[in-house]
Amino acid sequence: MNFASDNIVGASAPVLQAIVDANSGALPAYGNDEITKRIKARFAEIFEHEVSVFLVTTGTAANALALSSAVPPWGLCVCHQEAHVIDDECGAPEFFMHGAKLAGLPGVGGKLAAQDVSAYLRSLPKAVKQMPPKALSISQVTECGTVYSLDEIASLSAVCREHGLSLHMDGARFVNALVSLGCTPAEMTWKQGVDILSFGATKNGCLMAEAIVVFKPELAEALDYRAKRAGQIISKGRLIAAQLEGYFANDHWYDNARHANRMAKLLSEGLLGLPGVRMAWPTQANEVFPIVPKAVDQALKAAGLQYLHWTEASLPEGEAVGPDEALIRLVVSFATKEEEIRQALEIARSALSRQAAE
Ligand SMILES: Cc1ncc(COP(=O)(O)O)c(C=O)c1O
Repeated sequence: MNFASDNIVGASAPVLQAIVDANSGALPAYGNDEITKRIKARFAEIFEHEVSVFLVTTGTAANALALSSAVPPWGLCVCHQEAHVIDDECGAPEFFMHGAKLAGLPGVGGKLAAQDVSAYLRSLPKAVKQMPPKALSISQVTECGTVYSLDEIASLSAVCREHGLSLHMDGARFVNALVSLGCTPAEMTWKQGVDILSFGATKNGCLMAEAIVVFKPELAEALDYRAKRAGQIISKGRLIAAQLEGYFANDHWYDNARHANRMAKLLSEGLLGLPGVRMAWPTQANEVFPIVPKAVDQALKAAGLQYLHWTEASLPEGEAVGPDEALIRLVVSFATKEEEIRQALEIARSALSRQAAE
């Protein structure tokens, strides 16, 4: 059983079928084909807004290119201190921003609070020696598996507007957040002031397909050149676009995310039913972050389960992981089976019974 991430599984059947369907015949290269044109129009429908769309192959490329269009080389991009952009992309955003920096702020459950961002921005000296803040990047779902409410996004965007920052959303798990909030793509983005989005699809069923979706037109101006310089104008682009056609058709993307979120809820509720287990943060999408007795951690590992140990940095005030406990991250996906959840819970339950009997 593997709960290490939601990218440990392959692509879903409708996505693979869409690639096969798009495979035969000759079509213009580099995104000048009909399928790419269709998918760009589909994004505008889905978001109920005119958008510029750039298809890329990784979330890192989407984030780095999106931020490079929002932040000049002398600028600052504010993000959570555990954000993927600052922690897990080997400096790609800074590389593509050509000198600009990321500034990571703390926040419970991976979320930034509007008042903290506001206080930070006010504290920055306004002098030519200091880098001016130009963008705020938030992750939806966050790195702690939590989901910003619409009001929280709106409050952050109000701070951005007050200080002249663009608002970027890293939506690697975009539809998992939509399902969690029960809102539309428009409501979670431009209606709350999001200017540019990294739209993730790979984790939820695609083979390799992500999109930069731009709501603020000036941020799109040079993005095609930036994408080309990053090797992200894909010659057989129709096969990237085809993945997204298969992804969107018949609400497949929603079905996949609903399944993943339901599996996470099942796992979370099952774990909470065990003595000595609590959640570091609420389970709001497809990631579960329990604090478990060490005996459970050891038993899961001994049974060959794959998952990560997680940092305590974003725990709520007063919460701490004890010496006989472990904070772990379990991620489920569109392909996770209920049986796998049941088995994992059984391993944990047996470990606790054995411990109680000793
Ligand atoms: C929050 C977040 N953003 C972006 C990404 C995309 O990264 P990749 O470049 O691996 O597609 C990930 C993947 O782990 C992620 O968790």
